[in-house]
Amino acid sequence: MASISLRGVQKSYGDGVPVIRNVDLEIGENEFCVFLGPSGCGKSTLLRMIAGLEDVTDGDLSIGGRLVNDVPAAQRGVAMVFQSYALFPHMTVYENMAFGLKLAKTPRDEVDRKVREAARILQLEALLERRPKALSGGQRQRVAIGRAIVREPGVFLFDEPLSNLDATLRGQTRVEIARLHKQFAKASVVYVTHDQIEAMTLADKIVLLHAGKDTERYGSIAQIGAPLDLYHRPASRFVAGFIGSPRMNFLAARVTAIDARGVTVTLDGGETVRAGVEGGALQVGEAVTFGVRPEHLELVEGTQAGPEDSVLARSVALVEQLGEHTYVHLDDPQGVVLIAKAPGTARLHQGERVRLRAQAAACHLFTEDGFAVRPLESAVHPAAHPA
Ligand SMILES: Nc1ncnc2c1ncn2[C@@H]1O[C@H](COP(=O)(O)OP(=O)(O)OP(=O)(O)O)[C@@H](O)[C@H]1O
Ligand SMILES: [Mg+2]
Repeated sequence: MASISLRGVQKSYGDGVPVIRNVDLEIGENEFCVFLGPSGCGKSTLLRMIAGLEDVTDGDLSIGGRLVNDVPAAQRGVAMVFQSYALFPHMTVYENMAFGLKLAKTPRDEVDRKVREAARILQLEALLERRPKALSGGQRQRVAIGRAIVREPGVFLFDEPLSNLDATLRGQTRVEIARLHKQFAKASVVYVTHDQIEAMTLADKIVLLHAGKDTERYGSIAQIGAPLDLYHRPASRFVAGFIGSPRMNFLAARVTAIDARGVTVTLDGGETVRAGVEGGALQVGEAVTFGVRPEHLELVEGTQAGPEDSVLARSVALVEQLGEHTYVHLDDPQGVVLIAKAPGTARLHQGERVRLRAQAAACHLFTEDGFAVRPLESAVHPAAHPA
């Protein structure tokens, strides 16, 4: 029930070197916002500043319209769930969940009602008398979430809550968190992860952060947007490479022609390819990076290609068969390896020559400073418009 606003927020620890630079960010009242980015980029630091566990070096932090820079954690109306659960080992599940409410001198029957309600939602009713050591990792994390829910906070803060769980439990608990957010649609959620699948599936809004030298150059925020925005319209080469797995293929190129339907570039190595981007700000001869995702490189026979398609001929270096689909690694004259995502039924062998088609609308260009060239509005993105 509270929006969060960060204006010009900076953070440096003792040594005075900023780890968070120039963060301007609005998180809506019932929004699910995910902080995503490489290790050390400052996701936890940003979250802990919102929680009140770290002070804000510079800038304004408001929750529910109130400036909270100097408000202690306990008075911010936020509840935080950590990766490490942080449950009390000597208390039962019930006592763990009731602890914060008892501390706040909540009447006993109200405590009981809230704990049982949270236990029902989280399917912990049968476990209320157990101690944490008799629970699985996933159950412990549910208790930690329950402890946050009973406090009915305006803001839920999660710091990699699923990273101690195995793949199956991660998946299940992720779905549970999505379901919970729907039930608590009035609370805002800020969720830190470095797992792209969690970010893509849970977030209304992703905040992708830069790390290291990039923060000096561009500030901490690489891009803010809905998950599919970041996927289809990455603002920079960094975002394009971070979102999507396997990551986007990048090839060095030079602009050779600019027209209303896109831009033609010549790859270092000689071939000509097309990207459905606005060429207005580019110069013929300018060095750029051409980008295409593995899922947009399609294996084709013969010469099936339209006027806005590019076709690359390459040799297969390695085939990874995952059952559902196949990753085909291809030797490239630029000395890099291109990856194409083919159907699981594709039968290929090392050394085989193949042809790959990319539609211009699925191809990206990046200028030398790392920024993306705007996609054409008219570019019909194949992945955005499934047949
Ligand atoms: N208490 C501290 N004192 C000094 N530097 C710190 C402190 N806590 C974090 N840092 C530094 O601040 C930067 C951001 O750390 P932070 O923990 O926020 O990153 P993160 O994005 O959460 O990383 P991870 O994905 O590994 O959890 C790092 O360079 C880290 O070394
Ligand atoms: Mg962290």
